[in-house]
Amino acid sequence: MAILSTLLTALLAATAAVAHDDSPGALSRRAIHRLEARNLLSACSQKLRARELVEPRLARRAELLETHFRKRGLDALQMPILPDGNSRQPVPCILTPEVTVGPYYAEEELIRSEISEGQEGIELLLDFQFVDVKTCLPVPNAMVDIWHCNTTGTYSAFEVEHTVGESFNRGLQPTDQHGIMHMKTSFPGWYQGRATHIHLAAHINGTIDSETHTYKGGVTNHIGQVFFPEDVLEQVDVTAPYNTITVSRLRNSDDSIFLEENTGYDAVAGKPYRIPSRRKSNRS
Ligand SMILES: *[C@@H]1O[C@H](CO)[C@@H](O)[C@H](O)[C@H]1NC(C)=O
Ligand SMILES: *[C@@H]1O[C@H](CO)[C@@H](O)[C@H](O)[C@H]1NC(C)=O
Repeated sequence: MAILSTLLTALLAATAAVAHDDSPGALSRRAIHRLEARNLLSACSQKLRARELVEPRLARRAELLETHFRKRGLDALQMPILPDGNSRQPVPCILTPEVTVGPYYAEEELIRSEISEGQEGIELLLDFQFVDVKTCLPVPNAMVDIWHCNTTGTYSAFEVEHTVGESFNRGLQPTDQHGIMHMKTSFPGWYQGRATHIHLAAHINGTIDSETHTYKGGVTNHIGQVFFPEDVLEQVDVTAPYNTITVSRLRNSDDSIFLEENTGYDAVAGKPYRIPSRRKSNRS
């Protein structure tokens, strides 16, 4: 059965900003930074399981799932309670600002909660919580910037992609008082030389332009890429339109950016939960 819709949860641990450059000095600073962040994150592990953090996380996730169960005509009473303590738990990903913003970042994208602009593909609901590893507290009021290629591997808004003037799969959403943000998109495809990934950056202290629905100024203090478990990607590979992509998909373990991000902590988001499709009949 094809996957129609998935919920991806991740706990994203934010650390302080460092500008990106590839000099030997910068590389060693990045290695030190990652090590520090990892240590800080493990020092937070107890606090991250505290009720004050877990309860809002579960409540907001249940709210999101319920909305999508109802939309499909599914009985919300049959909605699973996704526990925080098994394979579906949010995996802490450290957002290292040293990881490259990449060649496909576009500024001043729209603040909106759905970004796929109706393109064909597996619906993907992102449920991310941002935590500051220095304080172990959620990061409220951050503006989270998401961008990724479409289901057949093309980025919008770039001349090399022949997509100037297009804005699919780009958008921003703020974190709430619990550091949680939700975004609806479509599961990304892939392109030459990269594993499947979603880019994200968090901005703070900028201003929202309520007329244009864009975000300006402020500081970008966290940049990262989120990756997916290989067994999930194998199911996506055989689903349309992903099965029309002709370039081969790199596995996470062959992706240099994954290898840089995934040292000492986990850059793979928690195993996505597959939302059942609408029941076609009342057979039981
Ligand atoms: C991805 O974007 C490209 C460029 O706009 C477009 O040609 C292609 O049809 C899109 N893929 C899907 C599945 O919509
Ligand atoms: C964001 O703004 C607050 C309040 O003006 C300030 O204290 C803080 O240092 C700013 N943060 C950054 C990273 O500029």
